Amino acid sequence: MPETFRIGLLGHGTVGSAFAELLAARADQIEAITGLRPELRGVLTRSRGRFDEIVEDADLVVELMGGLDPARDYVLRAMSAGRHVVTANKQLLSQHGEELWAAAREHGVQLRFEAAVAGVVPVIRVLQESLAGAHVDRLHGIVNGTTNFILTRMAETGASYADALAEAQRLGYAEADPTEDVNGKDAAAKMAILARLAFNTPVHLDQVTYEGIEHITADDMEYARDLGLGLKLIGTAERIDSGLSVRVHPAFLYGGHPLASISGPFNAVTIESQAITEITLSGPGAGGPQTASAVLGDVISAMIPPASTPETTERLSVVTDVESAFYLHLEVADRPGVLAQVAQLLGLQGASIRSVVQKGLGENARLVMVTHPILESRFYAAVDLIGGLDFMRSRPRAIRVIDEEFV
Ligand SMILES: NC(=O)c1ccc[n+]([C@@H]2O[C@H](COP(=O)([O-])OP(=O)(O)OC[C@H]3O[C@@H](n4cnc5c(N)ncnc54)[C@H](OP(=O)(O)O)[C@@H]3O)[C@@H](O)[C@H]2O)c1
Repeated sequence: MPETFRIGLLGHGTVGSAFAELLAARADQIEAITGLRPELRGVLTRSRGRFDEIVEDADLVVELMGGLDPARDYVLRAMSAGRHVVTANKQLLSQHGEELWAAAREHGVQLRFEAAVAGVVPVIRVLQESLAGAHVDRLHGIVNGTTNFILTRMAETGASYADALAEAQRLGYAEADPTEDVNGKDAAAKMAILARLAFNTPVHLDQVTYEGIEHITADDMEYARDLGLGLKLIGTAERIDSGLSVRVHPAFLYGGHPLASISGPFNAVTIESQAITEITLSGPGAGGPQTASAVLGDVISAMIPPASTPETTERLSVVTDVESAFYLHLEVADRPGVLAQVAQLLGLQGASIRSVVQKGLGENARLVMVTHPILESRFYAAVDLIGGLDFMRSRPRAIRVIDEEFV
């Protein structure tokens, strides 16, 4: 009889139940790879199981409850009892990661979390292992499938934000309460984790600035298409001078960018470093069976030790004012001299216009332009002044543009 590897499961919802099924289906294969027979010994939900008994009877605990409380306490207690832990909980890691990794080191156990970012896309493993020796300069990610689905539908069909969101909910790509997906917080938590691993420096969710897609209009998408641009919710983590910027916001991409073609509920992460130029990983970002597959991969890895926990080799300060190119959409009165005044206000702040299109006449006149990169604070100072000009018919709308292509 092969030796048994005992697994305790906390949470039996979308991912937890898919994990339990997958574990049973793959037990023979896992035994062939590891020489150990994985066995699910206990399951905890709100109505079933006792945490202490589950931990006592496990070699490894899988946390798939979500949330901070009691997940944080349970994960800490499992590790202090000498159990390895696998989790998919991005909120927990982005807010308590340092405490949890320190506990893993202290107790000599593994804490694995591939499924916490970009579902089944193996970006955690690539950053921690494959690229451990690369000096990463920048990451760009589409790390929220719900918003990518909504933006894709808006671009493809001309649907409004509200209609595309309703369709995402109907198809199961958005939850009944989609707030943290559409306001960027879910993506911000994932970017905090990726930045932590890429730059070996502590990054807390509170240090990530984020903006969502709720204000995007079908007009923005249509005009941007004329300028050769497509809109995505982009997470960025990059070295800036001696610091680090981590942020999430809607951004326009030119067609040649590796993330421009990622559509529907897919996720993708682009990693840039001088040594490797650029790597893009993409695939399904969520879903019970897909996420369970990433969780199972972590369980198998934990059965074949050792694995590293994140080290702190740098302490980078987090910078919030960075340079971006911008798309600027202005609804203006149709009269001479409007463009000149806008260009002058932008110019005073050091922003120059890369391209501009004039749309509509009379009541419908609009100026849609893309600027060259400028410090964000200076751009918004110009936009404030432009917003106060008497020919403006509504508030200016600005969206960042990622101003580069790879060849
Ligand atoms: N769903 C996805 O596609 C996806 C993708 C990537 C990562 N994740 C992450 O995976 C984790 C689980 O997500 P999910 O979608 O599977 O969640 P879910 O469907 O809501 O399931 C949560 C499970 O945890 C149990 N639970 C919650 N609070 C508990 C408590 N205080 N005590 C005991 N049990 C408790 C629930 O018990 P009851 O059954 O009694 O309610 C339920 O079985 C989250 O961290 C999520 O962010 C999910």
